[in-house]
Amino acid sequence: MTRPFYVTTPIYYVNDVPHIGHAYTTVAGDALARWRRLWGDDVVYLTGTDEHGLKIQRAAEQNGVSPQEWTDRTAARFAETWKLLDISNDDFIRSTEPRHHNAVTQFLQAVYDAGDIELATYEGLYCVGCEGYYTEDELVDGDCPIHDRPVDHVVEENYFFKLSRYEQRLLDHYEEHPEAVQPASRRNEVLGFIRQGLRDFSMSRTSISWGVPLPWDPKHVAYVWFDALFNYCTAVGYGVDEEQFARYWPVDYHLVGKDILRFHAVYWPAMLMSAGLAPPKCVFAHGWLMVGGEKMSKTRANQIHPKDLVAEFGVDGYRYHFLADQRFGPDGEFSYESMVARYNADLANNFGNLASRVLNMATSYCGGVVPDARADGPLVGAAAAAFDGMSAAMERLDFAGGLFAVWELIRAANAYIEDRAPWALHKAGDATATAEVLGDCLEALRIVALLASPAIPAASAELWRRLGQSGRPDDERLPGAATWGLLPAGNSLDKGSPLFPRLDPQ
Ligand code: MSP
Repeated sequence: MTRPFYVTTPIYYVNDVPHIGHAYTTVAGDALARWRRLWGDDVVYLTGTDEHGLKIQRAAEQNGVSPQEWTDRTAARFAETWKLLDISNDDFIRSTEPRHHNAVTQFLQAVYDAGDIELATYEGLYCVGCEGYYTEDELVDGDCPIHDRPVDHVVEENYFFKLSRYEQRLLDHYEEHPEAVQPASRRNEVLGFIRQGLRDFSMSRTSISWGVPLPWDPKHVAYVWFDALFNYCTAVGYGVDEEQFARYWPVDYHLVGKDILRFHAVYWPAMLMSAGLAPPKCVFAHGWLMVGGEKMSKTRANQIHPKDLVAEFGVDGYRYHFLADQRFGPDGEFSYESMVARYNADLANNFGNLASRVLNMATSYCGGVVPDARADGPLVGAAAAAFDGMSAAMERLDFAGGLFAVWELIRAANAYIEDRAPWALHKAGDATATAEVLGDCLEALRIVALLASPAIPAASAELWRRLGQSGRPDDERLPGAATWGLLPAGNSLDKGSPLFPRLDPQ
């Protein structure tokens, strides 16, 4: 039986349209999902939209439409963007769907029955942007530290979730499972937060109606995070298909931005424990993509939209950049100039050049077919290192490191060509040596296409086709397919046009 592998992105708020910050997580999750599929895992890759809460209700009001109309419209923008970016999600969940309402209702009842929900009066500070609570000392100059905007002082009689009861259990859990929050610096942050002491949090609202009603007191709707987090369980059959749920839960990876780590690594496992469900195997928090040193936001009007970049760099050029440019973990700065530079260096020059040189030469010198004379030349070791490097990096969700390892093979192949100069070998009439060098490089290209396919699926599939291979790299299975020497001699080659045309830096 294949191994189940479940990975999620956050469900995105539909007050906004998708920008490159949202796409950052979604592309990373996609590369991971595709990589695991190459290993033959039974992957569920989930993304979706978060459609309840005050923030969405306000966005709808400001646009003069009903919340449902607003969310239908904006959720579609997310789905379109993921399609554009070749995202291979297996499901797209909207938190307003009936399947989610039903699942959340059952979950709420389970937590209530566990005695973890009590009525109390809440008085404190609330940021609508975050849909989250703050204490006085967490504010920066009296403003929300994330949105730089004033918070609301609220007094409400609400139901509270008894988070304080879970302090020790959470600490024990993270003690036993140090891998459950990554990177390690984020784990320390979470532990520090728990050790300061956990406060119960308000989990219902009477001030709004746009949400899931509490089954025992329908005047209240569930706090948006209480419902949103549960999407991860809804999508794999909670309360509907116990077998499916048992297969995929607990989730392997929740990919989240650092701003929502606390919800995922503190609230969420406690909520699950309360309902008798297992906490996530890993919450992986990445940093923010900054533009001009600032976080992108609607208020700062510095958002960049994926479709604008795709128009210039193509889908794979887009995907490659965000995966390779910076480590998945720390904050990173987006700059257009460095995107052009990296595209030209890595894709147009290194990758594209290797492909076109080798295919062109093999077409001219070897009759357009994969030659059968193959030396076990210097690229055998480089190919093994690329595979090992990519595999090890993907275990750490280090996409940039993995791609770097694959690009080392590209660099090695380019250097090998410079060194052996097949054009000179051909001119000298040494058909065997010419065939050996080009045969090696064609095989290296096959392995590059295979290993790079989670990052650049379309270009990899196109290269695969040009190598005379049937199907797509996605149909292959690791580790076997990474074995040196599998490109069949006699495959007919198609030299094609440049895979990544060079961009003018001006
Ligand atoms: N709806 C909640 C998540 C609920 S999950 C049960 C939410 N939505 S969000 O749309 O505001 O943000 C979703 C994700 O996008 C977060 O992980 C956030 O970190 C990420 N990003 C938003 N802007 C970003 C950048 N500029 N850079 C990187 N990620 C960013 O929070």
